[in-house]
Amino acid sequence: MYGLVNKAVEDLVKNNFGEAIWLEIKEKAEVKENTFVGMQSYHDGITYRLVGAASQVLGLSAEQVLETFGEYWVLYTAQEGYGEMLDAAGKNLVEFLQNLDALHVKVGNLMSELRPPSFECSDITDRSLVLHYFSEREGLAPMVVGLVKGLGKKFNTPCQVNWVGSKKTGEDHDIFEVAW
Ligand code: HEM
Repeated sequence: MYGLVNKAVEDLVKNNFGEAIWLEIKEKAEVKENTFVGMQSYHDGITYRLVGAASQVLGLSAEQVLETFGEYWVLYTAQEGYGEMLDAAGKNLVEFLQNLDALHVKVGNLMSELRPPSFECSDITDRSLVLHYFSEREGLAPMVVGLVKGLGKKFNTPCQVNWVGSKKTGEDHDIFEVAW
């Protein structure tokens, strides 16, 4: 994944737990890089190892780390120069969730090696929708829960997000019920 993702993990850990804990996590993850370059593509293994090490060092489950990270990503990208792109992607939660693929197409114009996820919305009512998440990567569904909750806060539409379908339940992708 692009360094922007690893930088966001670093930023989240440093802001909440300090430099020493970050160094401990990095060492446990066997990450040799001193700094990450946002626009450079790194092996996915680095990100997964950072999440695993953060979970061990902080005593949280990997799912909790991913969910917290997802929520943070909404704030982090806005502060790292992607605010206009986020603003252009929708004026409310539903519109934004429907535009996630278009948003990643724009990101892909800047990051040519991007391997973005894909999302679809179905069953839209005025209080809920069903969000479908397609990814070539494994294990990131808890991050989507945090991402959507973070977007709910951004749009003043606090929401509940329930992960209701996955390969475990016989689906070929992850499915979330989003209600506000
Ligand atoms: C302008 C804001 C955003 C930027 C710059 C951005 C950029 C990225 C980048 C760089 C990656 C790593 C993929 C790679 O390097 O190949 C990624 C992955 C991902 N993004 Fe975004 N993203 C943004 C907003 C969002 C939002 C709002 C969501 C909400 C659902 C989202 C959902 C995801 C997910 C779930 C992944 C994991 C990749 C996978 O499943 O394979 N992104 N994005």
